[in-house]
Amino acid sequence: YLEFPCLPVGAVRDGKPALNRFSSTLTKDHDYPAAQAMLYAAGVPDERSMKKAPHVGIASVWWEGNPCNTHLLELGKTVKDAVMKQDMLAWQYNTIGVSDAITMGNEGMRFSLQTREIIADSIETTTSAQYHDACVAIPGCDKNMPGCIMGFARHNRPSCMVYGGTIMPGYSNLLRKPINIATALEAHGAYLFDTLANPDNPSQSKDDLLVDIERHACPGAGACGGMYTANTMAAAIEALGLSLPGSSSTPATSPAKMRECAKVAEAIRTCMEQNILPRDLLTKRSFENAMVMMMALGGSTNGVLHLLAMAGTAGVALTLDDFQRVSRKIPFIANLAPSGKYYMADLYEIGGVPSVMKLLVAAELLDGGIPTVMGKTLAENIETWPSLPQGNEIIRNLDNPIKKTGHIEILRGNLAPGGSVAKITGKEGLRFTGEARVFDKEHQLSAALNAGRIPRNQNLVLIVRYEGPKGGPGMPEQLKASAVIMGAKLTNVALVTDGRYSGASHGFIVGHVVPEAAVGGPIAVVKDGDVVTIDAENNRIDMGVSDEEVEERLKQWKRPKRMVTRGTLAKYEALVGDASHGAMTDLF
Ligand code: FES
Repeated sequence: YLEFPCLPVGAVRDGKPALNRFSSTLTKDHDYPAAQAMLYAAGVPDERSMKKAPHVGIASVWWEGNPCNTHLLELGKTVKDAVMKQDMLAWQYNTIGVSDAITMGNEGMRFSLQTREIIADSIETTTSAQYHDACVAIPGCDKNMPGCIMGFARHNRPSCMVYGGTIMPGYSNLLRKPINIATALEAHGAYLFDTLANPDNPSQSKDDLLVDIERHACPGAGACGGMYTANTMAAAIEALGLSLPGSSSTPATSPAKMRECAKVAEAIRTCMEQNILPRDLLTKRSFENAMVMMMALGGSTNGVLHLLAMAGTAGVALTLDDFQRVSRKIPFIANLAPSGKYYMADLYEIGGVPSVMKLLVAAELLDGGIPTVMGKTLAENIETWPSLPQGNEIIRNLDNPIKKTGHIEILRGNLAPGGSVAKITGKEGLRFTGEARVFDKEHQLSAALNAGRIPRNQNLVLIVRYEGPKGGPGMPEQLKASAVIMGAKLTNVALVTDGRYSGASHGFIVGHVVPEAAVGGPIAVVKDGDVVTIDAENNRIDMGVSDEEVEERLKQWKRPKRMVTRGTLAKYEALVGDASHGAMTDLF
């Protein structure tokens, strides 16, 4: 990363620590009069502020067309006001984003993962080019959080993240029960297979039910409410020490979220005063915490990809095998959607993520000694937080877990020699054998499901390929097909892909197969009828085909024509690395 000249750590001006270590390059003396003229025009009120006040960039992933992001401009304004009250200059800007749920199952999803890189690029670019002394980022939807942290790690100036917060559960008036975004996606499968029905009113039309679910699944601002990717990443980042205690479980619309925005100004000042830098917080030790949190809460498989990318950006040696090691020792204790019954907003009511941390620190599973953006250790931050209520239904006791070990399994074998990531909550068993049915691209599988070509009476491994980082391009998230399968209650199938699954996906699913089909990985030469075995006990995924036969098939394989040769996705395809290394674009 580009090194910038700046004032040394501990520099003192007029008897006080100089916090404008970077911006002073532009604002001291008169070396850059045009820069100062522009800054006065942008809002610097007087010469004292020009010479002394540190500049804090406030990067929100704000845009209007997605509930996860729609409120982030307002949160940013609250942060800005609080930063200004601390005698600092605050500059709001925003990055781009896309909605994972809106793009799910359509071509728009190919753009989703690359937004993580664009968000990181945006934050690195603005912080660096504008000589900001510190950065507060306010993300909402899935890729936003890792994108912000990767931006922090690249510019490595004092930084703090405020998670936009979880959505509240929706409520179906017809079904008379809480619903959420996954209900809407799974209702599609039930609708197609004619099983969408109201148990209390069998005569209710399936169209009325679907409309009711669409209208009420998302009641307002906030990121998807289960332990899907956004909440997974927010909880992991809180365990890394880069956000305020409680940030990941405080709902988007609660007054407590506004209080957090006001409080972050003190934290960012502390980070500047104590020179607490992102790369000091992003260590192997803190990533261990992030993985522990992810396993205990049953987080999304995307967490593996994003934590690898965040660690890779910060220069921390984190590997797929670290996830397997942590998964073997951490019990899965959270009864949260998608596999469980409750939502992040419910967890908030009984203490939230800090109370879960308290449980894990007391059991010496989480390292309470790591430093945080508060200038205190993680354990000190949560000292006064309430303990989880005894006997609650949301977070089980450690001696009575849902599963004794974590739900993430790293599988390797002749189908995925470079690794793959499975989410096994135990409900679906630990081993699955079936005949392969191969689909190039998710839409082919969706078409087969829609046409009723996936039978109920045969064990099948549905393989979706050419959906990896390069092949997609963009490693699109697949929820539509898996949601249809869950909605239709097709329990005789497993899903395997070189793409990704949504955090809302569940069932027997294996994603992130490396090497991907587009670069000639063995997944490219699986044929319909090959027997595929997924064995989570021995961490294997194999097709029943000899090595010689795989080699022979690969000799005959020809890479299909590239889908795009111009534009942002073509650039992404040219730069992106494999999923086992986080699908990063700056790892050359
Ligand atoms: Fe944004 Fe689910 S679509 S978190």
